[in-house]
Amino acid sequence: MKEKIEAMRVSIEEGIAAAENRKELFEQKMKYLGKTGEITALLKGMRDVAPEERPQVGKIINELRFWAEEAFAAREEVLKQQELSAKYASEKIDVTMPAKFVETGSVHPVTLVRQELLNIFTGMGFDVYEGPEIEKDYYNFQALNIPADHPARDMQDTFFISGEFLLRSQTSSGQIRVMENKKPPIKVLSPGRVYRSDSDATHSPMFHQMEGLVVDKGITLNDLKGLLDEFARRMFTSETKVRLRPSYFPFTEPSVEVDLSCSNCGGKGCRICKGTGWIEVLGAGMVNRKVLENCGVDPDVYTGFAFGMGLERIAMIKYGISDIRLMFENDVRFLKQFKD
Ligand code: PHE
Repeated sequence: MKEKIEAMRVSIEEGIAAAENRKELFEQKMKYLGKTGEITALLKGMRDVAPEERPQVGKIINELRFWAEEAFAAREEVLKQQELSAKYASEKIDVTMPAKFVETGSVHPVTLVRQELLNIFTGMGFDVYEGPEIEKDYYNFQALNIPADHPARDMQDTFFISGEFLLRSQTSSGQIRVMENKKPPIKVLSPGRVYRSDSDATHSPMFHQMEGLVVDKGITLNDLKGLLDEFARRMFTSETKVRLRPSYFPFTEPSVEVDLSCSNCGGKGCRICKGTGWIEVLGAGMVNRKVLENCGVDPDVYTGFAFGMGLERIAMIKYGISDIRLMFENDVRFLKQFKD
């Protein structure tokens, strides 16, 4: 019996050493300790052993069994560690590898200007109203004191869709739509696309304007000047000055052209301001009595001012862009420069 046990111990040791993974080891374990395993068979065979020999035989079989269980467990642990190390090695990430490059977009300069203007003016309490781009002649011209055949129509070379409808040539149409629907006090900003049949380095057939309208009791040109001073300082530099020059728009009276001191040279005169020290940025004025009347607002009770600016023009001044067409060509080499 003893020899048999010893031989089995040797073959178990060999079997354990030969197992290269946990699956093979498990097969070996079953071969000896499983239900039909060899050690299990030895234990079952105890019945046939003479009663006086049983304690002796039982002891050595049990020793073999405990030894075998431990030997399998120890090898199992070693193989488990080996398998884990192999798995970790295969999943290792090289953190020094260059990252995948993701090209991110940038915000268009006109959008940047629009956002900044909206920030500045909504911060001063302005609401925002966006009117339609296909507009009635009435809102774009007639209600703004520009009747059919008025010579002021020549200032805005308009795309007509029909006798009645056109592509709006100015966001001033928003003034009428707002005043028709709301009683003063009114403080509203009207940004959007406008269209004119005009195209060169400083004009584009489609461009963006932002209209401002304030109507209340006792509003004066001084309020307009104060508002523009604040706008100029926030949009450009704290040193930027505002100058009003007399001008003409049918829907404002008096009308002004608004210049800002050149933020490039500080007013001394340079290439950007063409040596004058001033840059024209917007049109403005006190809302014409006739326009207020057209909208059912009593001009003897209420007064107001309006201003309108081109966003491309503001962007050209702010970012030193010399040709408006760059803003519509969508050349990424140009657009990429406006990452903030
Ligand atoms: N709508 C005018 C233009 O497009 C600008 C303007 C707006 C002037 C409001 C005065 C008041 O030229």
